Formats: sequence, C-alpha cells, structure tokens
Amino acid sequence: MVGRAALVVLAGCAAVLAAPATVSVTPFSNAVISRVKSNMVKLATHSWEIGTALEALTELEWPSLSVFGGSLPPPVKLTSGTGADVTEWATKIVKAKPDPNALPLIDGDGAVGDPASIGVAVELTNWTRTDRGDHEFSTAAGHQLKYLLEVAPRTSDGAISHRSEQVQLWSDFVYMAPPFIAYFGALEGGSGGLSLLKIAYKQCKLYRQYLRDSSGLWKHIVLGNWSDTHHWGTGNAWAAAGMMRVLQTIRHSKLASKLKSEQADLTSWINEIVSASWKHQHSNGTLFNYIDESNSFADSSSTALLASVTYRLATLTGDNSHIPAANKAYNLIRSSVDSNGWLRNTVDPETFNTSSLPGAHSPEGQSFVILLHAAYRDYKASLRSA
Ligand SMILES: *[C@@H]1O[C@H](CO)[C@@H](O)[C@H](O)[C@H]1NC(C)=O
Ligand SMILES: *[C@@H]1O[C@H](CO)[C@@H](O)[C@H](O)[C@H]1NC(C)=O
Ligand SMILES: *[C@@H]1O[C@H](CO)[C@@H](O)[C@H](O)[C@H]1NC(C)=O
Ligand SMILES: *[C@@H]1O[C@H](CO)[C@@H](O)[C@H](O)[C@H]1NC(C)=O
Repeated sequence: MVGRAALVVLAGCAAVLAAPATVSVTPFSNAVISRVKSNMVKLATHSWEIGTALEALTELEWPSLSVFGGSLPPPVKLTSGTGADVTEWATKIVKAKPDPNALPLIDGDGAVGDPASIGVAVELTNWTRTDRGDHEFSTAAGHQLKYLLEVAPRTSDGAISHRSEQVQLWSDFVYMAPPFIAYFGALEGGSGGLSLLKIAYKQCKLYRQYLRDSSGLWKHIVLGNWSDTHHWGTGNAWAAAGMMRVLQTIRHSKLASKLKSEQADLTSWINEIVSASWKHQHSNGTLFNYIDESNSFADSSSTALLASVTYRLATLTGDNSHIPAANKAYNLIRSSVDSNGWLRNTVDPETFNTSSLPGAHSPEGQSFVILLHAAYRDYKASLRSA
C-alpha cells in the first residue's frame, strides 16, 4: 500500500531524478573536430588504431555507410568521392600486404583480433569498388576471416583468443573482431551470412561469460600466463562499443528478423556495462582508468567512448536515463581537447595503468572523441525527428 506520505516522497524523488537531465551540452565546433580528426589520422599506426580511426571516419563523415546509418549491404555504386578517405586508406593497407597470401590484413603485434578491425573498411572497399574485376579486396577480407575462424587459437568452449601465441581473452577483442565478422555476414547474406552474424553474437556472449563480474563491469584480461583483472575503463568501453556495432550490423541487415533474441541480449549486455560504469562517474564528468578504484586516475579516453555508446544506446532504446551522465562526460571531453585538437588526460594505451606522458597523445583517444561527437550528433537528430 502506498500512503500519501510515500507519494509525496516519490514525487520528490522524481523531481530530483529529473533535475540532472538539464545538464546542457556545448558541442564541439567543426574546426576543432577537424583538428582532432587530422591528429587521429596522423597518429594511427598500430592495426587497432587504424581500424578504430577508419570506423570513426565512417561514422563522422559517411553516416549512411556506417552500421548506424543505412541498410546493409551498402549500395554498390557510390557517388564520386563518397567514402573516399576510408576506402583509400583500406586500399593502401591491402596493397601493402608484404605477402598477399598471409591471412591477417596487417601485422598485429601478436594480437589475433586487432588486424580484423580494418576488415570492415576492406569489405566496404570491395563492395563499392569501381573495378568490378578486381578481387584483391575480397580475397584479403576472406583471408582475414579464415584466420579468425580457422587458425586462431580458442578456448575449449569456442572463444577466439585475442593473442596468437597463447589462449588469452582481452575485452579489447570485442571491438576488433566481432564487428568485422558480423559485417562480413551482413554483406554475404543468406544462410552463410546468418551463421556469421550468429558467430559474432556468440563471441560477444562467450567473452562476457569470461570477463564480466557481478558488478556488471568487465575484467580486462584473463587466461594465459598473466592477467589484468581490473575493470579497465577503456576495456569496458571497447566491449560495450563493439557489441553496439554488432547489434547495429544485425539490425540493419536483411537477416534482422531472424535474430530477435540476439538483439535483445546485446542491448541488455551493453546497458549492463553502461549502467555499471556511470555509477562511478566523478563530479566533473570523468571516469577513472580503473572504473571502480578510488586510487586510480581520471581517464578521458574511456570516458569519451563510454559516453558515445551511451548516446547510441539512448538513440536505439529511447531510454534517456544515462543521458545526463553522457552530457557531463561530453562537456568534460570538450574542455579536455586543447586548441590544437589533442585530447588531454588520456591513459597510456600501451601500459593500461599509467597516464600518457607529458607531450604524448593517445591515438585511440583521438578516435574516441570523433566517435563521441558522431554519436551525440545522431542522438540529437533522433530527438528532432521523434
Ligand atoms: C566482394 O564483392 C563482390 C561483389 O562485387 C561479392 O560478390 C563478394 O562476395 C565480395 N567479397 C566479400 C569477401 O565480401
Ligand atoms: C607468456 O607466454 C608467452 C608465449 O609462450 C611468452 O611469449 C610470454 O613472454 C609469456 N609472458 C609471461 C609474462 O610469462
Ligand atoms: C576531474 O575529477 C577528478 C577526480 O576528482 C580529477 O582527478 C581530475 O583531475 C578532474 N579532471 C579535470 C579535467 O579537471
Ligand atoms: C602497471 O602494471 C604493470 C604490469 O602489471 C606493473 O608492473 C606496474 O607496477 C603497474 N603500475 C602501476 C603504476 O600500477
């Protein structure tokens, strides 16, 4: 039974809960975004940095070619110039393969998943190429897929290892490989495509089983001869953002109606990370590098990518409960980008547990700013069209 006093308390609560929704955002100017972007392109050298930068370019500049935009497969014929920076970069990488018969697209520094992050752009390049007799991109993408599915080591229950020399699972993998497997499936279509979409989903499911804690946050690295069981901010963001891309790839494919429960699961797994993360947001909007550890340090990279996923999730579900947190994070990220377009206060993406050294910048952090800006833009547009 709810008495009058309780109703008054509830009404009071609602007012308190509604209040943070008024956190307003001052968006980046186009001039700053363009500096952030050119720094991103200059700085990306490792396979995963290039894959992430290619995704950021696609979401920012060619939204209808991204998995958040148009239906899949994309059109075969693009108007001249469309997607050019993405397909030209992918072309350069495929042409630079030292051994055309090597399976991964590029050297991955021992990582199984990272080279695959470039695969989406290679698939797009194949699909939209003007020289229809050129099968180089199709072969390169097919080889990359074969490596993931037939060569890379796995756990006994089928999780593909993130490392080639031993079986080891990293949350990072979820952004690198499943989105490519899913995209390949969405373009292939039919029963082969359906089974690839299911494999992408299954990898997310297996990774969550190994890495998720009861808090809802994911550990960074398990199995193998060392581990990082902290709740690394960037790792949680990679996992949530990777699952979001798989989900959107399924949704925009012709096979969406056959994968309803998979879409519901992915939505709930993304929400689980997003909800668990913002519980630990600090008053100026930042997350800490190890999200739930008070002696960790502020990290703008993970804050940016998690905020981007939060806007994407709200655009999809219409549930705005985490928008105040994302808005606070957006404002913090905007004030953390300096006048030259560099994101400050990042974690060093190669140590995972120290800040970037003075004067050093995070290549993936630059991409996360772009992903955040694109997600915010699309969220705002969805409100206007609702
Ligand atoms: C490359 O594109 C062609 C269509 O031109 C398609 O038939 C082929 O399956 C594509 N290859 C891959 C690996 O997606
Ligand atoms: C773990 O094993 C791999 C492969 O056997 C080896 O290259 C690496 O140095 C080892 N690392 C540690 C910390 O023992
Ligand atoms: C935000 O707050 C955290 C925690 O108090 C602090 O460590 C960090 O330096 C602050 N960041 C900025 C950009 O002021
Ligand atoms: C970071 O992690 C490495 C490897 O686990 C460890 O040796 C080092 O002490 C850690 N540094 C800090 C600042 O926690």
